[in-house]
Amino acid sequence: MTTLKVAVIPGDGIGWEVVPEGLKVLEAVGRKHGLDYAFTEYDWGCERFHKTGRLMPEDGLERLKESDAIFLGAVGFPGVPDHVSLWGLLIPIRREMHQYVNLRPVRMMKGMKCPLANRGPEDIDFWVIRENNEGEYSEIGGRLNRGTDREMAIQETVMTRHGTDRIMRYAFDLCRRVGKQKVTSATKSNGIIHTMPFWDERFEAIAAEYPDLKTDKYHIDILTAHFVLHPDWFDVVVGSNLFGDILSDLGPAVAGSIGIAPSANINPEGDYPSMFEPVHGSAPDIAGKGIANPIGQIWSGAMMLEHLGHQAAADDIVKAIETVLEGAGPKTPDIGGQATTKDLGDAIVEALK
Ligand code: NAD
Ligand code: IPM
Ligand code: MN
Repeated sequence: MTTLKVAVIPGDGIGWEVVPEGLKVLEAVGRKHGLDYAFTEYDWGCERFHKTGRLMPEDGLERLKESDAIFLGAVGFPGVPDHVSLWGLLIPIRREMHQYVNLRPVRMMKGMKCPLANRGPEDIDFWVIRENNEGEYSEIGGRLNRGTDREMAIQETVMTRHGTDRIMRYAFDLCRRVGKQKVTSATKSNGIIHTMPFWDERFEAIAAEYPDLKTDKYHIDILTAHFVLHPDWFDVVVGSNLFGDILSDLGPAVAGSIGIAPSANINPEGDYPSMFEPVHGSAPDIAGKGIANPIGQIWSGAMMLEHLGHQAAADDIVKAIETVLEGAGPKTPDIGGQATTKDLGDAIVEALK
């Protein structure tokens, strides 16, 4: 029996509703595949901030380092400004653990309704690889002269050769590993943004190391249009922190629902734990109603097991999700049904049997 040490952070809002479903499915697949877990649950998030003034304790990051992986719901809720909650929990984890790859599959599952006319699962199956540690999300910047007519806000983008090359290499390696042919770069080098011609140069340099793979690049504005008009063009798309963030909401929306999209914040070297969380946030508009779609969380659990080397168990979870989506079973409102979060989670556990 293998025991996996997993730090669990439900976080905020629907995180508390979807994480229990994710754990339930991990337990069920574990029983089948001889996996055992030592879950440590942390109540870190906005409520804790209201009580203590901190989203996580001072030694929070140190505690997380003791785990094999981190399973996160979502962070951020009205009542605490997002820049406080995100810099207080989510972003420090991604950075301190060197989770510089944000791996976000975009796949239209069978049984999902596509918002695009005449498109099906065979057309929408690609990966967004998002740079997760630098870029537009830098700590450099600030606000000056608040409340005056001289008020200003500044944000610096930081792209290093080290940080850019490693995310691009990850994208090319992934492309080979999953048997795809083409890596697309999300750029914006036609304007006056200093960083993007640099991004293009590094993309060309890294592409030269992979002569067996095809490449192309689009400026981010037209790329968003192509996601909608030609989702079948893409295999692996690599983007900066902000561009990747935007593309990884657009992709799942095109594939049917943001509620089912998973993501992995990967530390490829394995010197710190990686973190697995859905693409979506805390959904304050539906929090507490018990109707959030748990599939993004559950599928993130599959990505966690795959990362930890348990491919068969991971595949089993994805298969169970597909079975439920294709069948006549319970569906949450975002995918056209009336079921609760728990009904859908139960159906996936049932499909695993
Ligand atoms: P959101 O993803 O929380 O919600 C956007 C819309 O999608 C809402 O209408 C919501 O109801 C719906 N939705 C999201 N997840 C769903 C699910 N599982 N099932 C059904 N419907 C779902 O994005 P937002 O409203 O921009 O952000 C809300 C809060 O979450 C903010 O504080 C934001 O900063 C935070 N956030 C956190 C993360 C994260 O922790 N990784 C990601 C995105 C947003
Ligand atoms: C995501 C989220 C976060 C991000 C926010 C909440 C900071 O949108 O995980 O996609 O931009 O990385
Ligand atoms: Mn996002």
